[in-house]
Amino acid sequence: MDRQKRAIGIIGSMDVEISHYLKNSELKRETSWNGITFYETGLFGKKTVVVKSGVGKVFAAMVCERLIDEFDPGAVVFTGVAGALNRELDIGDVVLSRVCIQYDLDAEALGFPRGEIPYTHLREFKADEALIDIAGRTKLEGNKVITGTILTGDQFMTTKETNEHKYLTEELHGDAIEMEGGSIAQVCTLNKIPFIIVRTVSDRADGTAAADFNKFLPLAARNSFDVVKNLLLNY
Ligand code: ADE
Repeated sequence: MDRQKRAIGIIGSMDVEISHYLKNSELKRETSWNGITFYETGLFGKKTVVVKSGVGKVFAAMVCERLIDEFDPGAVVFTGVAGALNRELDIGDVVLSRVCIQYDLDAEALGFPRGEIPYTHLREFKADEALIDIAGRTKLEGNKVITGTILTGDQFMTTKETNEHKYLTEELHGDAIEMEGGSIAQVCTLNKIPFIIVRTVSDRADGTAAADFNKFLPLAARNSFDVVKNLLLNY
């Protein structure tokens, strides 16, 4: 089917990350699979399938593959929050994935660069240029939208002092850190589905990250929604 006629898959890892989509959409059909609910909806003139994956790379990969197999989306958008690694970013600023890397994948002992999936040459997953271009034109009041590198791993990052943080900022040049984007990127790339990860900064991945995360989660989820709304209106 023509890509424009196919649904757009929208994935968030937590209720607060998908609630604006469900509130603003016309629900057409709801299906459950292994405790995961897929909502087929109409949103800003587009056919969409909205789903909460749960937190972490395994849930994200599992749900993304199911979304692709069952609903054949023309594109996949991940919407959510992240910790900032780039010092120029403030709470509420949005990072669009140009590139995603699974920073916790480490087979250096076998001679593979960190982040590379052994025996595949896969390391940096590139998001779709058209999606980046449209989302990047969103204007937010009081916050900026940038395009950069999103790093993914199964860890909530809370310190600036560790070697790990240096690796993430000085070697990988990460702008934002989160727990699902890299696995969505891998699944979409292998299925040849255009994707973008849209992440709003909820914290600075430092000592105050847990408190900030809880405080700014609703605002951050809202800014990602505003960017994705603009994307849906103009895609
Ligand atoms: N998502 C939001 N903040 C995060 C952090 N500090 N580490 C990992 N994922 C996050």
